[in-house]
Amino acid sequence: MKAAVYYENGTPDVFKYEDVPDPECHPKGVVIRVAAVSIEGGDTLNRWRGPLVTKPHIVGYQAGGEIVQVGSEVKHLRVGQKVTTVFNYGSHAELRAVPARNAWPVPDGFDIKLASAVPVPFGTADDCLFEFGHLKAGETVLIQAGASGVGVAAIQLARRAGARVIATASSDDRLERLKPLGMDHGINYRRDDVVKSVMKLTDRKGVDLVVDPVGGATLQSSILSLAYRGRISMVGAAGREAMTVDVSPLMAGNRSLTGVFLGAEIATDRAHTMIQRLVDEAARGEFKVVIDKTFPLKEAAAAHAYIESRQAVGRVLLIP
Ligand SMILES: NC(=O)c1ccc[n+]([C@@H]2O[C@H](COP(=O)([O-])OP(=O)(O)OC[C@H]3O[C@@H](n4cnc5c(N)ncnc54)[C@H](OP(=O)(O)O)[C@@H]3O)[C@@H](O)[C@H]2O)c1
Repeated sequence: MKAAVYYENGTPDVFKYEDVPDPECHPKGVVIRVAAVSIEGGDTLNRWRGPLVTKPHIVGYQAGGEIVQVGSEVKHLRVGQKVTTVFNYGSHAELRAVPARNAWPVPDGFDIKLASAVPVPFGTADDCLFEFGHLKAGETVLIQAGASGVGVAAIQLARRAGARVIATASSDDRLERLKPLGMDHGINYRRDDVVKSVMKLTDRKGVDLVVDPVGGATLQSSILSLAYRGRISMVGAAGREAMTVDVSPLMAGNRSLTGVFLGAEIATDRAHTMIQRLVDEAARGEFKVVIDKTFPLKEAAAAHAYIESRQAVGRVLLIP
């Protein structure tokens, strides 16, 4: 099969488009013919500095497609079925193997391209808001990096749950594209101070919950934006900065900072069911899967470079 591979970490130009052996089907797994690769923020971070588990390495968490092989011990999936899948690596290819547990059937009529982009961003957003963030109707939530894949999902799920939604992004254009998704107030953090803006918007109370996929200096602004008893779901390091923050404001206000990692939950029945629910809800049009742009798989380098140029809102796909 063809795959976008790399032999060393680095900038997007480390990608090469090569022939590699087809993946083998594990007795408890499936192999899919990939119809769409949803490039995750974690894929760009892994390309930059993640471990090369295979060599050449095929990066990538998330892809959707049609099952072409089913392991001998798998009874609930069949050849020809459309599924969306998540695994630690291997999405940037024509074929990918995953544990059967990490494949979610896609309802008939739901575009596989959209389905490919649901599990990680929406599953992560759901866990940040509800399982770990305990968001309730009437609360105010701050979504850092609102235009990210996780951010676009979190804005919609928070709004649907009856929360007031504030989001940050690096430009007014990006914030404009978040309004139709349910964002109540946008903060362009390149122009305006996030903490001051949050305090102004909340009558100096602060927000009840922050979803923070950026870390570093952004995480510091998240801590300083919290209301009394406010919570943070810290879920990523998109800012690529050291996580050196002053946590002292947490104690004085009975505030909390919780790390969230979907990967550690994804094999549980709870997370599996949650992701299937989100796939089904997306198929019914209950929220929007935002696809910014698609590239051919052989242009993986250009697609990663585009994401890192900070122009994308939502997801960028690769099509084999
Ligand atoms: N823990 C988990 O389970 C989990 C699950 C999914 C994702 N994540 C993590 O969450 C983060 C976001 O993932 P995603 O898929 O939503 O990412 P994404 O779609 O690629 O978006 C990342 C966003 O971060 C913002 N950003 C801020 N500083 C940046 C920098 N120095 N370089 C690049 N972007 C920067 C950009 O928005 P602006 O330009 O508007 O600031 C960008 O759009 C990643 O760190 C990812 O690894 C964690």
